[in-house]
Amino acid sequence: MKEDRRNAFVRSLRIISYLIDITSVFVFLKIYKLIDRIKSNTAYSDLQFLFFAARDGWGKGEIVEIGAFNGKSTVALALGAKLSGREKVTSIDPHYGGTEKILRRNGGDMGVDDYVAPKITTSEEAKSEFNSAIRLMFIDGNHEYDFIKKDIVLWKDLVIEGGIIAFHDYNWLGVARAIDEEIRNTGKFAVEGTVGCTLIVSKMPQRNAELFEKIWLFNRLKSVLWPPERRLVKKRKVPNV
Ligand SMILES: C[S@@+](CC[C@H](N)C(=O)[O-])C[C@H]1O[C@@H](n2cnc3c(N)ncnc32)[C@H](O)[C@@H]1O
Repeated sequence: MKEDRRNAFVRSLRIISYLIDITSVFVFLKIYKLIDRIKSNTAYSDLQFLFFAARDGWGKGEIVEIGAFNGKSTVALALGAKLSGREKVTSIDPHYGGTEKILRRNGGDMGVDDYVAPKITTSEEAKSEFNSAIRLMFIDGNHEYDFIKKDIVLWKDLVIEGGIIAFHDYNWLGVARAIDEEIRNTGKFAVEGTVGCTLIVSKMPQRNAELFEKIWLFNRLKSVLWPPERRLVKKRKVPNV
């Protein structure tokens, strides 16, 4: 009985500390518009996950991103890693559309240029020179089936046991198919869940229970404070007549 009460007390303290953390990161990233200044479709919830995973994720290893564009996800990862003094972010993107300059400028504006190592090339070419263990990987490059499949096949073995792979736009058909074939059906990964448009998997065995507890609390808060109906109403630009 005493034990139960102590466990309940410890759990309540943990939840309170998560709430404080979620709120302070929200204020830091969102209210001060640090992240929203960068143009991209990646939503705030996905960025908050990347920030937490880079800052608090289990294990030692590199942080690698495939697909940087203007650097919105890059900055979220780099801010998390820099705040905890952990690994820098290897950010891979050929920047076909000339976005390299914007990525570098955004990294500088956010004070994380020293925490980003841009590789201006495709994921395939970058992999030929990369052989380090990875603890966190964000895959958001070319979303066509053949490309995402190649990204997974090339990189997944470098991810450490307990490490995380996050897939943006997992609801795209080609992305979902490649994830099914190369991740879900292998028995080597556990699907942790989703945040926004990001599917999160861990390489077995799972080692990030606290991180995911915080993320699921964030998801629940978001659905209570900002339910989907309200989001739709807010997005409608055409006035009602
Ligand atoms: C959806 S955008 C990335 C958005 C970014 N993660 C964000 O949060 O704003 C996709 C990016 O993938 C890059 N890309 C396309 N093919 C690639 C490849 N084979 N390897 C690495 N990046 C690639 C594109 O140049 C583009 O900038």
